[in-house]
Amino acid sequence: MSNVIIPPGWRIAEREATPESRYLGRRAFVRAAAALGLVGTVGGCTQYMVGQRPDGGTLDVGWTGDSDAPPPPPPPTGDTWEMQHAGLYPVARNATFSVPERPVTPEDKATTYNNFYEFTSSKTYVKEKVELDKFTTRPWTVVTSGLVETPQVLEFDELVRKLPLEERLYRFRCVEAWAMTVPWSGFVLSELIKLAKPLSSARYVRFVTANKPIEMTGIFGCPECPFPYHEAMRMDEAMNELTFVATGIYGKALPRQNGAPLRLVIPWKYGFKGAKSLFRLDFLDKQPATFWPRLSPGEYDFLANVDPDVPHPRWSQAREMLIDDGNYVDTMKYNGYGQYVASLYG
Ligand code: MTE
Repeated sequence: MSNVIIPPGWRIAEREATPESRYLGRRAFVRAAAALGLVGTVGGCTQYMVGQRPDGGTLDVGWTGDSDAPPPPPPPTGDTWEMQHAGLYPVARNATFSVPERPVTPEDKATTYNNFYEFTSSKTYVKEKVELDKFTTRPWTVVTSGLVETPQVLEFDELVRKLPLEERLYRFRCVEAWAMTVPWSGFVLSELIKLAKPLSSARYVRFVTANKPIEMTGIFGCPECPFPYHEAMRMDEAMNELTFVATGIYGKALPRQNGAPLRLVIPWKYGFKGAKSLFRLDFLDKQPATFWPRLSPGEYDFLANVDPDVPHPRWSQAREMLIDDGNYVDTMKYNGYGQYVASLYG
């Protein structure tokens, strides 16, 4: 069965639907209006409000201003994606992936110490900046294109309900020599690739992320950065059982600072390979250029496998700092995941 989404005639696009927050705000208005006797009822059901045609012509009347009473409270703001996906998490932990040698990083550390250059280059400011920039993560679609049977536009809300979600505890190692241990919720990338139906000629997959300068104002602050942020992997790496797409973290929907609504997690590679807020997957026959090697050739390589014996030109990779407590531990080759991936690299 094809996965191209052809909406039936009765269906309107998600973006045209009244946002839940506004809908709820409207209900609050109806309640307030009912209290003031402004709502007409037939057969016990709310039928229309003052200012609205009974034939249903205008739905969004808002506050009419006819009364001295204060207007109803504004609709709730905040991360509506998190609010609307609350029912999906937590999901069952896959016990195969444990990190016995170190504790789980506290949630407040992993969600307040971030790299997301579309917003800011300050790690401790990302959480506040996504809020200030009003970064919206709904509605959201993921495009699959390039060497595929048929290009598709997948609606994220449908995708996240369709694919099998699980929780995995993974080590995470940034190229800047800091590390954490995080319970991610999501699905294996191979499931999404199966839906995308790449052709046998596809040898690489490129991940292109959101490019919304009005909502990601850090983009203006870095003219030399080749936004949109883009990453890529070989197909055999992408199909590896470790390669994960996170939609949640700590048993909750992924917050925007960590890459909502969906981001890559590739635990044996440096964290910069984990592209956030994925927007498009392109299947290609040649290795594409990627963000960091383009920005700073010689400092970052395409494979970016964690390796204590290969120093960054400006610092050693032999040890790493746990953001939990600032203590240092030895870096592990492939970040401790050699049994799953060493064979990929001959
Ligand atoms: N994805 C996008 N779109 N933009 C970014 O700046 N930074 C990368 C990666 N993914 C980045 C991105 C880097 S350098 C790291 S270390 C991780 O995200 C950080 O993920 P975290 O904030 O969830 O810890």
